[in-house]
Amino acid sequence: MVRETRVSRDFLIYPIIVREGTSIHEPIDAMPGQFRCSPDILPGVVKDITSKGIPAVLLFGIPRHKDAQGTSSHRKDGVVQQAIQVIKNAVPDLIVITDVCLCEYTDHGHCGILNEKGEVINDDTLDVLASVSLSHAKAGADIIAPSDMMDGRVGVIRDALDEGGYEHTPILSYSAKYASSYYGPFREAAQSSPSFGDRKSHQMDPANVREALREVALDIEEGADLIMVKPALPYLDVIRVIADEFDEPLCAYQVSGEYSMIKAAAQRGWVDEDSCIMESVTSIKRAGADMIITYFAPRISELIA
Ligand code: PBG
Ligand code: ZN
Repeated sequence: MVRETRVSRDFLIYPIIVREGTSIHEPIDAMPGQFRCSPDILPGVVKDITSKGIPAVLLFGIPRHKDAQGTSSHRKDGVVQQAIQVIKNAVPDLIVITDVCLCEYTDHGHCGILNEKGEVINDDTLDVLASVSLSHAKAGADIIAPSDMMDGRVGVIRDALDEGGYEHTPILSYSAKYASSYYGPFREAAQSSPSFGDRKSHQMDPANVREALREVALDIEEGADLIMVKPALPYLDVIRVIADEFDEPLCAYQVSGEYSMIKAAAQRGWVDEDSCIMESVTSIKRAGADMIITYFAPRISELIA
């Protein structure tokens, strides 16, 4: 009765990595219990998610074809565009959020278009991100979630959505996304590791918290409806200050490395998996997150009465 923080299903978001092709349901080595699957497999996956009372999924795509410009990211029949349609047909009420970034679609693995020196060109990338966002909205996405961290992307995406007739489609911005080593398992899963260099030109320095406040303020000014801190557990203080400072719904992403560390230690019998899962999400909620993106969503749903 006196418990101050409660975990419930209705603020959970489950990430799904969708791979172009058919009949694919392959385990992700670095993330035990998680799978890459093709669009045709999704109805079963999302029906299970819905039956567990989880209201939303976050989609990532791995295309068959990658190139320097990431052109597969905004194809009408691209992998995420197909996945959205399949999910909407199978479970119309499930909220479909789509991650918008180019690193899964570029052959060099960077989040944007590069110049001759191999640097990400911020402004050229914005046009592509706008096309990706509009193509997701057209395919039926409910919420667009840019994760690239280019400057000015929220404004450009907002304009593109509005001009395309999607003024009611909200933007969930990965506002304070840190250049984190905890994305390692995801990059293996999504085959999106940069082939050279890193993402420090656009993702944030783990040492900074005032910068996170500036990033969030800018995104809100540009039209972000929901904001995010990522990763979650190593950044609970950032979640707390942003929750105190801003009124927008705040999302926290318990990322792949956070997932795999608990799984790995539990597999060795070093920690108790279920109690670590509940303790970590309770802490993220206690820090001030309204919603939590987590690969543990189905398990959490089973664990809460
Ligand atoms: C794409 C993106 C990444 C993640 C979400 N969107 C990887 C990255 O920035 O390198 C990480 C998700 C996770 O680790 O679970 N930019
Ligand atoms: Zn990226």
